[in-house]
Amino acid sequence: MRRYDTIAAFVSRPSGMEDETQEEILSQFKEKRFGGWGLLQLTAGTGLAVYAVWAGILMPGFRRVPLKLQVPYIPASKRQVCSVMTLLKGRSGSLADLGSGDGRIVLEASRQGFSPAVGYELNPWLLRLSRFHAWRTGHYGKVSYQREDLWKVNLSGYENITVFLAPSVLEPLQKKLLAELPEDAVIVAGRFPFPDWTPCRIEGDGMDRAWAYHIKALRKHHLPSKVIRSTEHTS
Ligand SMILES: C[S@@+](CC[C@H](N)C(=O)[O-])C[C@H]1O[C@@H](n2cnc3c(N)ncnc32)[C@H](O)[C@@H]1O
Repeated sequence: MRRYDTIAAFVSRPSGMEDETQEEILSQFKEKRFGGWGLLQLTAGTGLAVYAVWAGILMPGFRRVPLKLQVPYIPASKRQVCSVMTLLKGRSGSLADLGSGDGRIVLEASRQGFSPAVGYELNPWLLRLSRFHAWRTGHYGKVSYQREDLWKVNLSGYENITVFLAPSVLEPLQKKLLAELPEDAVIVAGRFPFPDWTPCRIEGDGMDRAWAYHIKALRKHHLPSKVIRSTEHTS
């Protein structure tokens, strides 16, 4: 038999045989019905795989952070970084990016003279990436990326704060910032504004928009109720 004949014979097997094999496979498959136990195993396996990706790659280091305070990594675009920096023009001193991701805001802040420029981040992969970017651009040693939960960091030493977080965490963050920041501090929020505060300046459009807030002005309008009461008592 010539070579072509062999191939043809292999490709065009008798159709009856093909049907037989298919039927056999189908009947075997039908017999293997998924019972309750099988379904449970399948669900548990899928759940475990999803959890492994979430805990190991997307949100490692977040086990101790309550679920409602967890914010996934969505990096700021060039335009968003630009809006933030425009709002910080003319300012200097220390800057902290809360949830610094791959470190792009901290890096840009350092380029524009902010020092110390610090990023707080829990994801170790992103911290490594941030340090790599700092090294690659010659900023290693000028910026600092720390593996810390932003809710546990004492912010009293920072004059400039940047945040690119989710709306769900901005409300509790307002309280922390009001309680800890020095009087001359400025906060810039990207992507979403703080829910209860009035910004002093806004920059950019749509998703590139950023909002700036002066802590001094905020304190005038958002005195905690306890402080108001104690002032009332003394006057
Ligand atoms: C939306 S991303 C913003 C990243 C970066 N600031 C930027 O604009 O490109 C939010 C980041 O905050 C980090 N993050 C969320 N909760 C945190 C926490 N409690 N402590 C430290 N980092 C946190 C996440 O890992 C994520 O990288």
